[in-house]
Amino acid sequence: MAGMEPQPAVMFTAEQIARRVQELSRQISSDYAAADELVMVGVLRGCYIFLADLSRALTVRRRIDFIAVSTYGQQTCPSESLRLIMDVRSDLVGQHVLIVDDILDSGLTLHYLTHILRARNPASLRTCVFLRKPGRLQVDIAPDYLGFDIPDVWVVGYGLDCADRYRALPYIGQVDPQRL
Ligand code: PRP
Repeated sequence: MAGMEPQPAVMFTAEQIARRVQELSRQISSDYAAADELVMVGVLRGCYIFLADLSRALTVRRRIDFIAVSTYGQQTCPSESLRLIMDVRSDLVGQHVLIVDDILDSGLTLHYLTHILRARNPASLRTCVFLRKPGRLQVDIAPDYLGFDIPDVWVVGYGLDCADRYRALPYIGQVDPQRL
C-alpha cells in the first residue's frame, strides 16, 4: 500500500518516556514550588508533545507560550544564522521562564533563545530538553533539565520528525534517513 512507512527501531518506549517525564516534572515542581508562576516557553514545532505531557504533570501554577526559530545558511556550518519567526505573547519581565524543547543537537537554537529571552529581564531563566546528543554540541550550553543523552543517530517520534514524518509516533525511534 502506498504511504506505508518503515518502522523505526525503538530507542525509548512510551513507558520509558512517561516515567522520565514524571521524574522531570517532580523535579521541576519541587524546584519552582516557591514561585508564583512558571512560564513554559515551547520551541516549535518539535516540543509540542513533550510540552503537553510535561505541563500536565507539573503541580506548580504555569502558563504556556510558544516561540519559533528558523535556520538559514548551511545546516552543517557552526556559524549558521538563526532567526526568530514567532515570538512569545507573554511579557517575560520578572517571570520565571522555562524554555522547553525536544532535542539539543548543535545547541545553537537553545543558545540563541536563552540569549534573546535573558535580555527581557525574567526573574529566572532555565532550559529543559528531552533529548541531547552530546557528540554534536557546538556551543557551551547545558540544559538545566534533561531527559536522556543519546548517540548521534537520527531519532523520530514523540514530536521529533524526519522530513516532517513520524512526529506522532508514541515512542522514540531511530531511522536511517537514507533508507526512507
Ligand atoms: C529541532 C529541535 C530544536 C532544534 C535543535 O528543531 O526541535 O529546536 O532542532 O537543534 P540545534 O541544537 O542544532 O539548534 P527543527 O529545526 O528540526 O524544527 P522542528 O522543531 O520544527 O522540527
